[in-house]
Amino acid sequence: MEHVDLVILGAGAAGLFCAGSALAPGRRVLVLDHADRPGEKIRISGGGRCNFTNLATAPDRFLSGNPRFPASALARFRPADFVDLVDRAGIAWHEKTQGQLFCDGRSTQIIDMLLQRMRGAELRLNCVPGAIRHAGDRFEVETGQGRLTAARVVVATGGKSIPKMGATAYGYDVARAFGFGCTEPRPGLVPLTFAEQDLMRYRPLAGVSLEVQISHRGGLFRDALLFTHRGLSGPVILQISSYWLPGEVLELDLVPGEDVTATLKAQRGQAGRMSVATALARMLPERLAQAVAVEMGLAEARLADQPNRVLEVIGRRVNRWQTRPVGTEGYRTAEVTLGGVDTRDLDARTMQARRMPGLHFIGECVDVTGWLGGYNFQWAWASGHAAGLAA
Ligand code: FDA
Repeated sequence: MEHVDLVILGAGAAGLFCAGSALAPGRRVLVLDHADRPGEKIRISGGGRCNFTNLATAPDRFLSGNPRFPASALARFRPADFVDLVDRAGIAWHEKTQGQLFCDGRSTQIIDMLLQRMRGAELRLNCVPGAIRHAGDRFEVETGQGRLTAARVVVATGGKSIPKMGATAYGYDVARAFGFGCTEPRPGLVPLTFAEQDLMRYRPLAGVSLEVQISHRGGLFRDALLFTHRGLSGPVILQISSYWLPGEVLELDLVPGEDVTATLKAQRGQAGRMSVATALARMLPERLAQAVAVEMGLAEARLADQPNRVLEVIGRRVNRWQTRPVGTEGYRTAEVTLGGVDTRDLDARTMQARRMPGLHFIGECVDVTGWLGGYNFQWAWASGHAAGLAA
């Protein structure tokens, strides 16, 4: 039977990085993946330019059942460490906004860099891993290409997002088979959808985009909102989707930093003949301003005819716009999967299972999920590095 020192299951961001960190002279490291190409999510990430890290990485930008869990790995492999690798590989990059670093060229440069870094390890594609058994001082791993034994196993098969790209629940199944906890997975960084009656109202706004602020369950974001044919999207919605739970109402400030009631009162004093819709259009995209005015029965109304009470209702509607999405677009479009292998069962320094030495879980299959903006790759690199050094 084939024997290796370390088998890494999953040749995505975390698995490839882990392999590079685990290499040592005379050590046999094998990376298995059921796909026919490694790092497919890296390839499509960041619109093809891979937002490979975020300079503002800190544990409070990650969601987890144990918010302190990611701190150790993140502290030992920082964004600057990854940037150093990128620089040494001669890959040009730029900062877009808010600390987000992207390749100037294609994201395949990052995949090539990771493959180069793990030269010396074996990459076996189109290979489907099955059950893992612990037997004596080693693990037996069934694969579609025969059984193998390994002194150590790292599970890096990611989450359930984008099944079309081959995402599976394998990592969770392995954790459960060994008796570890698994926080219920759910889609994260995903557009939200409207119920049918809201769709009738808001579908005409599809394509309208504006900067808004949302605060929900401890998450606070100010960024672009986009009305779509199905509901709401844009970075601010993707961010808050990781905090939102089905059935909850979201409250958005459509004109952050401006007291809309006060502005409308001032405009009434200066230009009372102006319509409510026109006044709102000075603060909101025109189509949205019109929709708010129509929704309030003020389509033709002039500012001068509105008492303070009405302007206050309009102001509240805009500064505290409430909506109750019916759901999310699901794993089909979700950038990440929230939940996963329970961090209480893992050692934060090594990502090793506390009750099964030699078995590690890294990357997205662990219950650690970053914000939008390069944080999830930084977690993949950092957790992969932590396990690679230890495994
Ligand atoms: P990842 O999903 O990368 O890798 C898992 C690997 O395991 C895959 O190669 C898969 O084929 C393999 N696998 C799965 N099941 C298996 C099984 N049963 N048997 C064998 N192999 C199996 N993040 C970020 O920081 N910046 C960004 O720009 C983006 N952009 C982005 C765009 C899109 C469209 C998506 C879907 C996601 C992103 N992300 C992102 C998120 C980021 O891609 C994600 O968090 C990391 O890829 C997670 O790395 P992992 O290695 O854990 O899983």
